[in-house]
Amino acid sequence: MSVKEKYALTDEGVRNVKLGAVWTTLANLVVFGGSGLIFFAMSSLMAHLTGGEPWGGIDLLALPAPALVALVLAYGVVLFVCERFAYYYQYGVIYKESGRQRIGLAERLRKLPLSFFGRRDLADLTETLMTDVKTCEHAYSHVLPELYGAYATMAVAAVALACFDWRLMLASMWSGPVALALLFGVRAKLQPLMRKTRMAGLRTSERIQEALECVREVRATNQVDRYLEHINRSVDAAERCAVKAELITGVCVNGAQIVLRLGFATTLLAGALLVAEGACDFLTLFCFLIVVSRIYAPFDQALMLIAELFSARTASARMRGFYEEPLAEGGAAYAPHGHDVTFEHVGFAYEKGGEKVLEDVSFTAREGEVTALVGPSGSGKSTCARLSCRLWDASSGRVAVGGVDVGTVDPEVLLGDFSVVFQDVLLFDDTVMGNIRLGRRGATDEEVLAAARAANCDEFVSRLPEGYGTMIGENGARLSGGERQRISIARALLKDAPIVLLDEATASLDVENETQVQQALSRLLAGKTVIVIAHRMRTVESADKIVVLEGGRVAEQGSPAELMARGGLFARMVRLQRESANWTL
Ligand SMILES: Nc1ncnc2c1ncn2[C@@H]1O[C@H](COP(=O)(O)OP(=O)(O)OP(=O)(O)O)[C@@H](O)[C@H]1O
Ligand SMILES: [Mg+2]
Repeated sequence: MSVKEKYALTDEGVRNVKLGAVWTTLANLVVFGGSGLIFFAMSSLMAHLTGGEPWGGIDLLALPAPALVALVLAYGVVLFVCERFAYYYQYGVIYKESGRQRIGLAERLRKLPLSFFGRRDLADLTETLMTDVKTCEHAYSHVLPELYGAYATMAVAAVALACFDWRLMLASMWSGPVALALLFGVRAKLQPLMRKTRMAGLRTSERIQEALECVREVRATNQVDRYLEHINRSVDAAERCAVKAELITGVCVNGAQIVLRLGFATTLLAGALLVAEGACDFLTLFCFLIVVSRIYAPFDQALMLIAELFSARTASARMRGFYEEPLAEGGAAYAPHGHDVTFEHVGFAYEKGGEKVLEDVSFTAREGEVTALVGPSGSGKSTCARLSCRLWDASSGRVAVGGVDVGTVDPEVLLGDFSVVFQDVLLFDDTVMGNIRLGRRGATDEEVLAAARAANCDEFVSRLPEGYGTMIGENGARLSGGERQRISIARALLKDAPIVLLDEATASLDVENETQVQQALSRLLAGKTVIVIAHRMRTVESADKIVVLEGGRVAEQGSPAELMARGGLFARMVRLQRESANWTL
């Protein structure tokens, strides 16, 4: 696996990691060069004091004073430049990589089918976008350039030291590869543990998020204690995993660092033996000891951070999961003939190979007509609405708009033709105005207000402290169900698309409001393809066509009068509702 794949990097990111490694190596080598300078200065000084020859005949002290000053200055400049660039690539540009990655992931999310969101929990996705990217960012900026730089520095230093004395080189350099091998050896054991820790942490945040989202239900059912205990248990499990992983990592990393430092002892030992035998002069040993005392520093640093690299592998694998998922793609070219919505023998299951929710569903919702989908709860009405605008793809058969198979059209392009009011209205923590304007970006204030008025929003907005400029809280928490629904209707009216899907759009409205909103709707819906889903028969009585679903199949379809005359499921539902209208408690 390439570095790019392993760490889910972008091309730019790979280039920066490489440049970071190069500059880190150069900076390390320049630092060693400083040790070399000290060594030559010492050897010259000794030569002058004892009257002998300096090492390699290089006599630094024989240089004129300005040349010496220039040498030291030049060294300082080179060191500064190398450190500056190493810093820039480790801490500067590399942070932009996380920005690129988040944008890449978000772009991907835009195009992933909804089935992906059904399978992955919301907390899980947020964790990937925020925490996983951050974990990787730290690994790219601090660990990868440092580690690769340490490899390269060690290799260059080994060659340079071998030129002085190959035996001492072996005595000092063996510990680096052994320490690394040790760490990579235990990685196979460490990585599953890190993955487990990650998943345990994730489960905890999922639980906490769930508890916060469902706080109303948890309190209403007197389940607070039970739920807290539930969360405590998962926190404890996560803690146990984390402590275990930290302990094992700590032992391994410290073990590797001890092995690394053993190199200093073996250099001293081997050097003393060689000097005693006269096979090596004291100055060479001195030089080795100076270099060896410095050479472990970058490696030491890299070893300390290597555990992070291992956890970054887990994080990048989760990020790769986004990229391996097939996209809901389609062409941008979309030229429908009219806007009839046609279902042809459509079958559908929410999960691959799962239970079929729709089977052999065929009907046409014509342009300029109102088609009502009715049927018992769970019969697949909302599912039909979702398939028609390609929020999900049909498993078999074909859904077409104006004769064009929706499966061939880019979902974003297709949705441009749909105004939808969902059964479960979702609003943003924005102003009333902002929430309605979502229907059509760039709509003028007058257009937004006109849509709001048509959807009967005026009545409750005038009671809000700042009118249309009032923030409505997360998912419109400050509004009633019916008020939320009216905002959603206004949004759809503002969009003014040729196909309108209304899924229980007026179910939470009182009779007076419903009548008014329906009047506005019927004016604005003229000439469009309208699909209405409603449980109240009163709402669908005036539809041009009724499609009755039962258990995911079309039980009957036709005009309301035809279906009443047939005396089937529709007629039965109408009769039952009329009877229940007379009920009293
Ligand atoms: N996201 C989903 N994942 C898996 N199954 C789902 C999903 N949404 C709905 N279902 C299942 O599909 C079936 C049809 O659901 P659908 O929402 O289409 O029913 P409906 O006719 O709109 O019902 P209602 O009148 O209660 O809104 C149900 O059995 C439901 O359990
Ligand atoms: Mg529904």
